[in-house]
Amino acid sequence: MPDVRSSIVFYLNDQRLELADVAPDRTLLDFLRLERVLRGTKEGCAEGDCGACTVLVGRLDATGLTYESVNACIRLMGSLDGCHVLTIEHLSGEGGVLHPVQQAMVDQHGSQCGFCTPGIVMSLYAMWLDNPVPQRADIETALQGNLCRCTGYAPILRAAEAISAYGAADSDALRVASVDMASKLVALQDGRRVDVRSGGGRFLVPVDTDDLASILVEQPEATLVAGSTDVGLWVTKFLRPISPVVFIGHLMQDVSVGDSSIRLGAGLSYGRARKTIAFHLPQLLPLWDRIGGAQVRNMGTIGGNIANGSPIGDTPPPLIALGAELMLRRGSSRRTVRLEDYFLSYGRQDRAPGEFIESITVPLPHAADRLAAYKVSKRRDEDISSVLGAFRLRVEGGAVTDAVIAYGGMAATPRRARAVEAALVGRPWTIATVEAALAAYPDDFEPLSDWRASANYRMLVARNLLVRFFYEHDGSSAQSRGQAVLS
Ligand code: FES
Ligand code: FES
Repeated sequence: MPDVRSSIVFYLNDQRLELADVAPDRTLLDFLRLERVLRGTKEGCAEGDCGACTVLVGRLDATGLTYESVNACIRLMGSLDGCHVLTIEHLSGEGGVLHPVQQAMVDQHGSQCGFCTPGIVMSLYAMWLDNPVPQRADIETALQGNLCRCTGYAPILRAAEAISAYGAADSDALRVASVDMASKLVALQDGRRVDVRSGGGRFLVPVDTDDLASILVEQPEATLVAGSTDVGLWVTKFLRPISPVVFIGHLMQDVSVGDSSIRLGAGLSYGRARKTIAFHLPQLLPLWDRIGGAQVRNMGTIGGNIANGSPIGDTPPPLIALGAELMLRRGSSRRTVRLEDYFLSYGRQDRAPGEFIESITVPLPHAADRLAAYKVSKRRDEDISSVLGAFRLRVEGGAVTDAVIAYGGMAATPRRARAVEAALVGRPWTIATVEAALAAYPDDFEPLSDWRASANYRMLVARNLLVRFFYEHDGSSAQSRGQAVLS
């Protein structure tokens, strides 16, 4: 067992903090506002939707020190060991001189009541550091996770476009100090396991993945927290006890690319995996960019999205369509399981006590494969799917030679549409084949009605997504579109 430290150590703005009395469910937002009286960071929804609580968190990784926008309301304190947290209070310069992002917001009238403004400024700041001359689409993506209810977005978008007129990102104080901060964070890496007990609760931060495996053998009942985009709501909305907690968001970050597959560490956030997805699976990018907002994508992990077993997680259907396999580990034992076999029933997965997902291996599509994933939700951005359909069809010589179709939101688990697949394979890839296959949907699914969607709506959408997939992947004329769409 590695040496143990009974405190977390991190930087908050310019200050080094070492805290031993931290509850496992303490949120960064409550810490900032209640203990540090840093009240520029606001609480709107306390569930990762509105962005009023946006701060930056910097962490060392293989490329150096990377800062990302996150939701402080659902970020738990134990996950900050070894990090640099930056709040809105740190932005203005000496004597209160406004930062270029703030000045642009003032000059473009980007704030009315001001409640959302600190969060919007922090999101724009994160964007501007990486992309000082953003296109309108970049700005809209950066602000997906920030809601403003009174200014209206036009002045905010104008402000975002104007930031670089007020200063250069390269000479921004955070950039200039980043080498110094990186060496401070390196100095915090003492190779010790963190084990904090406070107020009857306990959390641990493993040194590495081997240490995680040992901890879980000893404490299989522990709550694993990677991005806390789900567990954060257990805390803020359901007041559910989560102790003991093991924080793993810093582990399993590796990506390896082979000739026929890619292997993604389970701890990769959606944001960190994006470059790999964009290069190797660009067909999934439109879906990828609609998972939560930027802050959620910076926190939530692929492994977490699978492990929580939700029937409406965004990544399982496309990963099932691609034939992904999980590497599960308990202690030093490992086994692989096909993702489609991992979901047993609602709330139950093929994962033994003490076992965790270490990586996901995703086969790359064949040259003759056609691939797409479609998310249908009430709101375009930052919403949970009503139905998510993922399709991988191989078409050779005009006929379907292989088909894997998976849906979320249609059953108690993410699930393949095997009867529909069977109705397609071996037949010509034509609208007549698709129309015939539509009749097979009731053999695969009997969806539920809930407040997201009715059963009828879900079935209609599921079928229409197959029709959409056909028209987007057969090159037929636009005039014929819609004829087969059910109503
Ligand atoms: Fe709304 Fe955090 S308070 S996202
Ligand atoms: Fe009031 Fe945005 S300025 S909510």
